[in-house]
Formats: sequence, C-alpha cells, structure tokens
Amino acid sequence: MATAVRHLMSTPPVTCDADASLAEAADLMNSHDMGSVIVTDGPKVTGIVTERDLLRAAACHADPLAEPVHLWMTANPDALDPDEDAAAAWASLTHHHYRHLPVVEDGILVGVVSIRDLLSVAQIRPADEAGTDLPRGLEGVVVAETTVGDVRGHQGFYHYRQYSAVELAASRPLEDVWQLLFDGELPDQRGANAFATEVAVLRTLPDRVASQLPSLASAGSPLDVLRTSVSLLGAELEWRPTHDIGQAELRHQALQLCSVVPTLLAATHRLRIGLEPVPPRQDLSYAANYLWMLSGEEAPTDHVRAIEQYLILTIDHGFNASTFAARVITSTGADLAAAITGAIGALSGPLHGGAPSRALDMLDDIATPGRADAWLRAAVQNGDRIMGFGHRVYKTDDPRSLFLRGVARQLGGPLVDFAERVERTAVGVLAELKPGRQLHTNVEFFAGVVMHTCGIPRDMFTPTFASSRTIGWATHVMEQAADNRLIRPAARYVGRPPPQLVPAR
Ligand code: ACO
Repeated sequence: MATAVRHLMSTPPVTCDADASLAEAADLMNSHDMGSVIVTDGPKVTGIVTERDLLRAAACHADPLAEPVHLWMTANPDALDPDEDAAAAWASLTHHHYRHLPVVEDGILVGVVSIRDLLSVAQIRPADEAGTDLPRGLEGVVVAETTVGDVRGHQGFYHYRQYSAVELAASRPLEDVWQLLFDGELPDQRGANAFATEVAVLRTLPDRVASQLPSLASAGSPLDVLRTSVSLLGAELEWRPTHDIGQAELRHQALQLCSVVPTLLAATHRLRIGLEPVPPRQDLSYAANYLWMLSGEEAPTDHVRAIEQYLILTIDHGFNASTFAARVITSTGADLAAAITGAIGALSGPLHGGAPSRALDMLDDIATPGRADAWLRAAVQNGDRIMGFGHRVYKTDDPRSLFLRGVARQLGGPLVDFAERVERTAVGVLAELKPGRQLHTNVEFFAGVVMHTCGIPRDMFTPTFASSRTIGWATHVMEQAADNRLIRPAARYVGRPPPQLVPAR
C-alpha cells in the first residue's frame, strides 16, 4: 500500500454537534451511507459516534430520541493526517480496534476514514494480525507456567524448584535432585535411601530391548541409537498415551525411563566397540554405575563426583528447545516415549546439545595456545560459530560453565590449562568481532573438557547430556500432562496470495 489517506477518505465528513440525539446521528449515517458521524464544536473535533455506539445504546435500551450523542460517543478521538500512508493508517486502526477515524489537516477536519475505505487497497489479512507478531525463535516469549525451574539470563542464575541448581550440584547427590524434580521436595536421609533403592532396581533393560540392542547399536551415532531405543522401550513396555493414564502410572514410567537410559547408553557404546555390555549394579550411585557400565571398571571417586556434578547441572534449563519439544508432544496426549524421543531429536542439533564434542574438536584443531587467536579470528570472520560460546538466555557468564571450569581445574591436567587459555582468547575475539552480542562461555565448552578428563568417549558427550536431561524432560512431561492443553500456535503465511487457479496439466 503506497496510497495516502487523502485519496481514500470520505469527504466532506458527516458531522453533528454534541447535543444531537442518537436518532439524528443514525439518520445522518443512513442518509450518507456512512458508519460514523464526527462530533464537532465549531471547527474542533470533540468526538466520534459510530454504528457500534448506536448498537451499544440500543442494547442498553437508551431512548434514541432523548439521548444526546455526547453520552455515547468516543470523546477526543485519535486523528489521522491526510498525507499518512494507508498502510500506517491500517496498522493504527487495527492496533487500537478502531473502525473509523477523523482526518484532520492543520487542525481542520477534512474527512473521515474507515476500515472499509482502507480495505479497498489492502491485501486481505487476518483480522487479528496486529499484536500477534512474535520475535524470531520465540525469544523471550512466555509459552507456559512451570514450577520446575527457571533461568535468569542477566543474573547468570538458574534454579530447580526453589533452589539454586549450582548449589544443588555443589552439595547434593544426583538422586536427591532427581527426587526434588519429580516429587517437589528434597529428601531427608530416609527418603533418599528409599528413592535410591527404588530407582536402582529399575536399571536393568527389559529382555526384549536388550535382545534387540545389538542390531541397533551401530545404526548412526550413539544419540541416534538412544532415540531409537527409547522409542523401542516405550513400545515394548506398552506405554499408553499420557492422555489415558494417571500421574502415578506416568511417574513410574518416568522413573523407569530415567533409570534405564544410562544402561542403554553404556550398552550401546560397548556394542559399538565390539565389547559385551556390562550389567548395571544396584550398589552404585547413578553416576558411579554409569561410569562402571561404560568401562567395566570402578571409576575414581573424583571422576564420579565430577560427572555427577555435570549431570546435576544439566538436568533442566528453562524452556530450551528439547524441553519445549517434549511438552509440545505431551500436549497432544502422546506417550512418554514419544515425548522423549522427540526431545532427543531436538537435543541432537549442534546449536543445542551437539556442541561439546565439537568444542573439543576445536581444541584439537587449534592444537597450541599460540594458534588460538588466529584460528578463532578466522573462524568468526568466516561466519562460523565458536562451539561452546554464546547463549540465547545468558547475557553474562553461564553459571554452569563457571562451575564446570572449577570442576575441570580440580581434576587438573594439560587439557584444562589449554582450554582456559583458548577460552580467554575466544571471549576476547568474540567481544572484538561481535561487539554488543554478549557472547560468553556456555555449558558445553568445559563439559567436553570434564567428560574427556573423566574418560567418557567423545561420541558419548551429547548422549551423556541426554541422560541427565531425560530427568528434566520427564519432569516437564509430568507437569504438562497434569494440566494439559494442546499446544497449537499459528504461523503467518507469506507465500503467493491464495486462492489462485490450479493450472490445468
Ligand atoms: N560464535 C560466533 N558468533 C556467535 C556465536 C558463536 N558461538 N553465538 C552467537 N554468535 C553471533 C551470531 O553470529 C550473531 O551475530 P550477528 O548479529 O552478527 O548476526 C549474534 O551473535 C547473535 O546470534 P544468534 O544466533 O541470534 O543468537 P541465538 O540466541 O539465536 O543463539 C546459540 C544462541 C545458538 C547458542 C549461539 O550462541 C551458538 O550458535 N553458539 C554456538 C553453539 C553452542 O555452543 N551451542 C550450545 C548452546 S548451550 C545448550 O544448548 C546446552
């Protein structure tokens, strides 16, 4: 639309004074085939009365012969300039839900413009279009209410329930945090023992899943195998749609799923390298058992605790892409396995969970601290993303990265020193070449360093992340299922205007 309001308005406008009756206003509208009358006091616009006002008055049984328009009009209405672009006028009318506006030039009323006038040059668009535009990537858009946790990007803080996630990682075992998420409370010693026993017995793979795993294990990456085997698990255990089951049944499925995922992962890893899976042990904690099943050896205590802390830190993190995916799938009433399979798919992307192995690949490629500046500079100038840096929500240090840097330091070793030097250089290069973007180290950078130092193979980094995140996803699935409404947003169609004739062949 490049037409000015001047060319679309009705002129001269139909006017009356404030003491005219509703019946007189209705007669004017009728005789001029107009939907509104401008109320004036000499040359000054004091109000506008529209068909809608007449309807309101009729609905209130107002006497049209006795009631003056000033009681029903919109006083001191907004006005348009005749040279205003019709598109801007359209936006203003739809935004404010006006149907008619006076047009005023140099303080003098020159016309009136209506939605109907503007429609003559407008494309047909949804009536509720105004106000529905959302930022790309839904950045900052609130799509649900949750009691699971949240992220405060500008403060560098995130929490599970009412507790700082970092404090939980510093002070509690993973099972306690798992229980906090599932049941809403941190356990006391007795509750913790009972929960640990409850989940440890669920670690064994169902026979029909264990027997099919060897034929699946080399199909794609370990994360692909996890995605497929979670789907298989749900089918073999005949998990019913969340729509059809109660919270107790869903909680039991969720406990079993979270307990079995490390077993699936470790078995997959061993089958891929030609080794027999190591059965889970019930006497070990979640993290110790995971490392045991991967290598067949009991891991040193500092490695167990480092991995446990990494796992706690990554259980949940606001409405990230995979969590949202899990909730969208749950909102259809689909079963738990469907929701988690979809979430694993979302996590696999390099912009989400696929980054830690790539961050380590980058360290390999840089090779020596002296090459870092040139390598990183060239990558950013080439338009590449530096893996392990930047975050949609954090505009300051990612608290998970700060914590994991400390964990990595405690573990020690040459890779840790090198990673810290590359980190410093990367932050400087990003600040210089991407000023104002607030790009800091995210969880993935030191995650790779910690997992590598503790002996987790590189292709198992993202699957290990998926293991702890399954606890978070499952918590969200339960929350969504408990108070569900189908998540079904809309998109703006921007293709060629329909309907067009379907061409003959
Ligand atoms: N390296 C270089 N430039 C970057 C990086 C990065 N790691 N991250 C963002 N930028 C730049 C973008 O090029 C863009 O620059 P421009 O304004 O000149 O176009 C600007 O910063 C904003 O980037 P967006 O893509 O709009 O930021 P968004 O919030 O969508 O992306 C994301 C966040 C995907 C994490 C991004 O920072 C990234 O790609 N990082 C690297 C991958 C990574 O580490 N992923 C793991 C994230 S943590 C997790 O999911 C568990």
